[in-house]
Amino acid sequence: MRTQVGIVGAGPAGLLLSHLLALRGIESVVVETRSRAYCEARQRAGVLEDGSVRLLSESGLGDRLAAEGLVHGGIYLQFDGQRRHIDFRDLTGGRTVTVYAQTEVVKDLIAARLAAGGAIEFEVTDTAVSRLDTDRPVLSYTGADGIRRDLECDVIAGCDGFHGICRPAFPPGLASVREREYPYAWLGILADVPPSTDELIYAHHRDGFALHSLRSPTISRLYLQVDPDESIENWPDERIWEHLQRRFALPGWSLREGPVLDKGITPMRSFVSAPMRYGRLFLAGDAAHIVPPTGAKGLNLALADVAVLAPAIDALLRGDGGPADAYSDTCLARVWRSTHFSWWMTTMLHREPGADEMTAQLQLSQLRYVTSSRAAAASLAENYTGYPELPGAAGT
Ligand code: FAD
Ligand code: DHB
Repeated sequence: MRTQVGIVGAGPAGLLLSHLLALRGIESVVVETRSRAYCEARQRAGVLEDGSVRLLSESGLGDRLAAEGLVHGGIYLQFDGQRRHIDFRDLTGGRTVTVYAQTEVVKDLIAARLAAGGAIEFEVTDTAVSRLDTDRPVLSYTGADGIRRDLECDVIAGCDGFHGICRPAFPPGLASVREREYPYAWLGILADVPPSTDELIYAHHRDGFALHSLRSPTISRLYLQVDPDESIENWPDERIWEHLQRRFALPGWSLREGPVLDKGITPMRSFVSAPMRYGRLFLAGDAAHIVPPTGAKGLNLALADVAVLAPAIDALLRGDGGPADAYSDTCLARVWRSTHFSWWMTTMLHREPGADEMTAQLQLSQLRYVTSSRAAAASLAENYTGYPELPGAAGT
């Protein structure tokens, strides 16, 4: 069996890559361990940068996004008993973000690929990659029908997330890993209740960070900082709402409560593995890098990587290896900017266990500065809405 590009993983990176390659007339096969239903229901990110919205729209995936995505022109930062607005439009010359859940991006991508006759094999097992240092790498897997297949490819894209098999397939010692774990995690809930806010609220509180996001005019998404070793069983719904109420409390404002539809705990880490390429294997998205979620960057980085990778593969298959050779460095410029911003937002807003009063005062000083200095607010706004000047945004 043969295809041009073997893609491991049907997350946002793998699916968008398959779509962008198809637009260039390049055939691919996507293999995925989970079921279609699981991929479409997995609750994760919710905020798209300006450039991600343009990228999806310009590649023909913008219909539902335009109809259902909620354009936000800013965020609120809450600390020290006050809630302050950061106005992205004003600070960045009109840039915005769009609230549109990762579940919806994945549904749109799967529908588009299947409608175009694209191959996505769900529920595969024992995925393996081999012959990566040749120009005929092989992607092997056992299909849902129990049949083992060896797919000979021109290129393999490892879009299989942080726990995938592609990054570990690099020869030992080739990649350098930079990593930081944080002493906290996020407990996230999806609630069947209209949001209590028009734009996202990032709240710094002495009990820990909280975030009020949303999925639609009727569904709220909320997060609480918890200890990294917390178990979800210790968090009945009443306890979650009690903590959310305390951390968001503001005179004259109230948080609406409703039935909890989904809940889970996410660990937080910064991780960058470089280079993102070995031979004919290219990594994209969480397979190569992870950011803590506070800057809402993980999904956007995954999309930006494949916006660079699709034309690089196209050129490589036509005999020009230049863009493929530059792929890793090109992506890493954006990856490191987002890694810094996510680390900065995270450390400014979370309570560090055991932190002294000095740390607390430094955080508060930074929050006062970023909400009162136009220069500091503009820097936050520019980072949050994305970096059009870095490759990976639409059309670059
Ligand atoms: P993924 O979405 O992880 O997709 C990888 C795919 O590969 C998966 O479908 C997986 O099943 C499949 N796969 C893995 N191994 C194999 C294999 N061996 N063979 C075949 N397929 C395989 N970002 C934010 O900005 N905000 C958030 O709130 C947020 N919350 C998150 C919560 C969780 C629990 C996680 C894990 C991530 C979260 N992120 C968040 C990050 C964001 O969702 C990711 O950055 C984004 O999903 C990256 O997309 P991806 O396609 O690179 O990887
Ligand atoms: C969401 C997640 C984030 O990490 C973030 O910074 C903002 C919003 C969300 O899931 O809606």
